[in-house]
Amino acid sequence: MPRNVIDVTDLTVDEINQLIAVAEDMIASPAKYQNACVHKQLATLFFEPSTRTRLSFESAMLALGGSVLGFSEAASSSTAKGETVGDTVHTVSCYADIIAMRHPKEGAPYAAAQFSEVPIINAGDGGHNHPTQTLTDLLTIHREKGRLDGFTIGFCGDLKFGRTVHSLVNALSRYENIRFILISPTELKLPRYVKEEALKKQNIPYQQTDSLDAVMPELDILYMTRVQKERFFNEEDYLRLKDSYILTPEKLENAKSGLSILHPLPRVNEIAVSVDRDPRAAYWKQVKNGKFIRMALILKLLDIHV
Ligand code: CP
Repeated sequence: MPRNVIDVTDLTVDEINQLIAVAEDMIASPAKYQNACVHKQLATLFFEPSTRTRLSFESAMLALGGSVLGFSEAASSSTAKGETVGDTVHTVSCYADIIAMRHPKEGAPYAAAQFSEVPIINAGDGGHNHPTQTLTDLLTIHREKGRLDGFTIGFCGDLKFGRTVHSLVNALSRYENIRFILISPTELKLPRYVKEEALKKQNIPYQQTDSLDAVMPELDILYMTRVQKERFFNEEDYLRLKDSYILTPEKLENAKSGLSILHPLPRVNEIAVSVDRDPRAAYWKQVKNGKFIRMALILKLLDIHV
């Protein structure tokens, strides 16, 4: 059976730390890796829109000397003729050495992996998980803070549908001495199953609030998120909740000088563009880091050592 990454917990903490070390080496010495994947092919199967995840996967494989194929919308594949996801993935696994797949249905990459002869990476499944964004986030936190333990992180915005939040809470719950502050409107609270599995089962303390202002001075990391319009059942609820939090320079006046501001992007208007100039804004560095951690993951799943 090929090795898949469907959930971030498919990787051990040691493996994640190793991926971060390899990504750091790639950032320092990219030329060392430029032929690592010659004659290898990555397929990107995106049944849902993406800018960063798809293009960073493709950029990662090209930087490793490999090549890429795939599609960026279901309408341009035989899915439009009624082909199942299983048959699509089985077909692509005959052509590619590794597959990154995004799908609007929770669990679709897991189901697809049962039909694949090559490793499958979940590039985001509905409102469920996004493990490679989490690897990106962990690399960014490691680069900003120099460690992955002993800090207070606030998750702010749409914690219900925000798959990057679910995966990162899961991942960080395996590191020591992390304090979680969950900031959202009542309607967009972190799902109970994530709280039960990641936090309550391990007796990890967490706090829930709807006030970003009240907790801002306590935060070492602020993880902002977009309200996920595409997951709402009615537009009225989205319009009511979409501007629940808008981070501005004024809102940051009470924040620590050492705060790191992360956002998986895309942003809509939950972070004012003027915040981009704040030295604490780390989200554009996060975008760059995404390529390197995906390079490291591709090498690992293809069992290639440089
Ligand atoms: N962070 C993220 O998943 O961005 P895209 O939707 O653009 O891939």
